[in-house]
Amino acid sequence: MTDTPSNLAISTVLQDFERRNEPLAALTESLFAGVLAVPLLHAKLLNTLALMEHIGSRKIMVTQGVGALDQDTLKHLAEEARHAFFFKRQAEIEAGRAFAFDGADLIAAPTARGYFQRLEATVKRACAGDAEPATVYLYMSMIVEFRAVWAYKRYQRALVSAGHRMSLKGLLAEEQGHLDGMAARLAAVGSLTKARVDAFIAVETVLFGRLLDRLRRLLDSLARAFGHIRGCGLDRLHSLVRQGGGALHRAFGLRLGHRLRRLFRRLRRLGSRGGCRLLDLLGRFRHGLGSL
Ligand SMILES: [Fe+2]
Ligand SMILES: [Fe+2]
Repeated sequence: MTDTPSNLAISTVLQDFERRNEPLAALTESLFAGVLAVPLLHAKLLNTLALMEHIGSRKIMVTQGVGALDQDTLKHLAEEARHAFFFKRQAEIEAGRAFAFDGADLIAAPTARGYFQRLEATVKRACAGDAEPATVYLYMSMIVEFRAVWAYKRYQRALVSAGHRMSLKGLLAEEQGHLDGMAARLAAVGSLTKARVDAFIAVETVLFGRLLDRLRRLLDSLARAFGHIRGCGLDRLHSLVRQGGGALHRAFGLRLGHRLRRLFRRLRRLGSRGGCRLLDLLGRFRHGLGSL
């Protein structure tokens, strides 16, 4: 049976979503706080959010036939593209340089892309027999908006706690508007069912959990790296890294030296391709030592 808007109120679904995601809330909040403590990492998170907003706007564009493009959809597309611009601009202000949408300037990029691809594949499979062609776009957008509202609310609180100048209030209001709009349009074409919403949210929650886990592992490795190098001058550390594994082993012992080499390789992948850049990178990360 198809639920009507009166018996599938979006506020009730949002409450269910909150309840289902309670186990992820504390981790999400601590990750936002941890990332905000490391400006370069925060810049990369902003750039990754810009990419995700861009993918979202692009998906709206490619899933709509030209004839079906109505005013609401064009407005949605324009707003998601503007969100991508907003995050990209903030990323570049935070980093003090231009960012590309590729590996070194992003964090957890394959997991972020996989989030969209897997969710879309699930929605497409479930809606394959639908007469209404827009249901894939409407469901995809609605489920992603649940997450956007949930995560950006926590991000906004973390920004305020960190005394950061950026505000997500305007963006959050637009995401909430998209969520309501998608639900109303799905209900209007008679495709809004609780069974589908529940199934899609269950898949999305698993995918988002993977994204969080990837970010947690990254922050853990940085925290360990900072713990190890605390008290060691950057010039000396840089010189040891340049000399190679043997020098690190002699300075820190075999086990710690080996771990440091692995951690430095990760740091390099994160944003530094050469020895000189490594020094700069460590200098920036050092701002986050106290909070990590
Ligand atoms: Fe958005
Ligand atoms: Fe949105």
